[in-house]
Amino acid sequence: MATINDNYLKLKAGYLFPEIGRRVNAFAEANPDAKIIRLGIGDVTEPLPEACRTAMIKAVEEMGDRATFKGYGPEQGYAWLREKIAGDDFQARGCNVDASEIFISDGSKCDTGNILDIFGDDNTIAVTDPVYPVYVDTNVMAGHTGAANDKSEFEGLVYLPITAENNFTAQIPAQKVDLIYLCFPNNPTGAVATKEHLKAWVDYAKANGSIIFFDAAYEAYITDPNLPHSIYEIEGARDCAIEFRSFSKTAGFTGTRCAFTVVPKTLTAKASDGSDVELWKLWNRRQSTKFNGVSYIVQRAAEAVYSEAGKAQVKALVSFYLENAKIIREKLSEAGISVYGGVNAPYVWLKTPNNLSSWDFFDKLLQTCNVVGTPGSGFGAAGEGYFRISAFNSRENVEEAMRRITEKFKA
Ligand code: MLT
Repeated sequence: MATINDNYLKLKAGYLFPEIGRRVNAFAEANPDAKIIRLGIGDVTEPLPEACRTAMIKAVEEMGDRATFKGYGPEQGYAWLREKIAGDDFQARGCNVDASEIFISDGSKCDTGNILDIFGDDNTIAVTDPVYPVYVDTNVMAGHTGAANDKSEFEGLVYLPITAENNFTAQIPAQKVDLIYLCFPNNPTGAVATKEHLKAWVDYAKANGSIIFFDAAYEAYITDPNLPHSIYEIEGARDCAIEFRSFSKTAGFTGTRCAFTVVPKTLTAKASDGSDVELWKLWNRRQSTKFNGVSYIVQRAAEAVYSEAGKAQVKALVSFYLENAKIIREKLSEAGISVYGGVNAPYVWLKTPNNLSSWDFFDKLLQTCNVVGTPGSGFGAAGEGYFRISAFNSRENVEEAMRRITEKFKA
């Protein structure tokens, strides 16, 4: 008789965003006239930059001609894209990252989950609380945790609370952990990390032989010139950090799919016999075996992000969503709601009014304003009493959603 991976049974309900979708669909069915505005999942709404579309169309034409047709590409991604990334995203910022250390993929969600393939099962793993649920769920699936308690905290994980008191940046743990997930600008809180904060983590990781998984999917939203975009801006990070980046929230690629992961060749971890093994070699082996690369057409679109026109168009897209975030912050504040984030990030994190639970506020917002957000408790126990509003939507929808909310909640 075939058996299953029992670890999946430890996962409580569905994944957060499909669960929200299910509730919203049920509400929409019962209220067919409601004009629902979705500020829940951080999914982009604005069209792909013209530079990317032009590059894709050209690439499609190349695929239609035997002379320029492409079959399988390199599993790691085409060199011309990896070189642009290394040059523009890292070397231009003084980060010592080589093109060969960049692995093109179809998404950071996949990469942050798949990276566990190359690590042992006995690592002590730290996540912030609240946290992007993928980091937790993929560890549960891999059997790295025990069961969940009634607050949905999994036995065996080290939770680092991020709250208004610590500016939503986790304190360095007193205990030793082996793998640490950090996300800046933060999903869900919209908090950012200073160089000093990241340096403290790098120093900790180096002192303890830990590896930091640094999710920088939202780095393009950093407008403060003093804030680091990459963990490799911190000295020593090449010896302790893997960085994840994505074109989803920068160039609007959520439906197009392209991202990349940086695994420095200087990064090692221990084998069970005590020897040091290069993680780059393992990730390269993993990707070559389980992945056949991102389509040529999409990689050409990603390459266009680095053209002069592409850079200007991406900047305009990011500024557009940041302006949405500003409107959300201002309007919610006017309604007397405490807001965080949303300045160097596309997410606004708010304290629920009248001490409502996160899900009660979700229901109230849906029923009375027909606006969808994401309950903070869906990101972890410490997110209870908080709520996330995404700035990814049209200006019209954001303004209308804020009008409805201020009308309802203004004291
Ligand atoms: C979110 O809403 O947190 C993101 O859209 C999730 C993701 O990027 O996978």
